[in-house]
Amino acid sequence: MTVPVARTATPEDVFQMEELMRDAFEASYANFMPEQYVREFYDANGARQTVHEGLSRAAVVEIANMVAGFAMYDENVLTELWVAPMFQRKGAGRTLLEWMENRFRRLGYDSYSLCCYAPNGKALEFYKKNGFTRTSESDSTEVPGGPVKVYTLSKQLDKPAG
Ligand SMILES: CC(C)(COP(=O)(O)OP(=O)(O)OC[C@H]1O[C@@H](n2cnc3c(N)ncnc32)[C@H](O)[C@@H]1OP(=O)(O)O)[C@@H](O)C(=O)NCCC(=O)NCCS
Repeated sequence: MTVPVARTATPEDVFQMEELMRDAFEASYANFMPEQYVREFYDANGARQTVHEGLSRAAVVEIANMVAGFAMYDENVLTELWVAPMFQRKGAGRTLLEWMENRFRRLGYDSYSLCCYAPNGKALEFYKKNGFTRTSESDSTEVPGGPVKVYTLSKQLDKPAG
């Protein structure tokens, strides 16, 4: 089995990032988010928008020389995490978290957080397995067709060795 490897995203990755985000959205968010939210994502080309806006703060993960997923951050918040359906459960998501955690440590943070929609049960399992705890919950009023309950999850970062 090929080990997932994370690296900084480059403009050459844009096409694959957009495509995998669309595929992952269709296999997850499209099944549990309000219809209006899903329609607006497709109408506004949400994948293109997300990738273009966040590219300078993004990492991709490769499996067998293919871009399998990506993550983005802003300060010490993980803003995006997407793994292509065909590469899920192969350690790509965990590898992206490790890359992000190293980045956050280098930036001087000792913790980081993210938001996860309550109906996204698979992602909640993934974050629980990776050491996150729920710090707050609210009803997101910004979701078209919502509200949808959203959790804030946080994780403490270990100090670098040495
Ligand atoms: C959530 C997501 C990023 C996980 O990525 P992944 O590459 O499949 O996760 P990993 O293979 O690194 O999983 C690590 C561990 O997390 C847990 N986990 C991951 N996916 C899981 C699932 N669907 N159900 C239960 N546990 C899960 C497992 O314990 C797994 O280890 P194991 O496979 O050895 O049992 C991926 O499913 C995804 O892109 N989902 C759609 C987009 C999304 O919801 N993003 C998060 C937005 S907040």
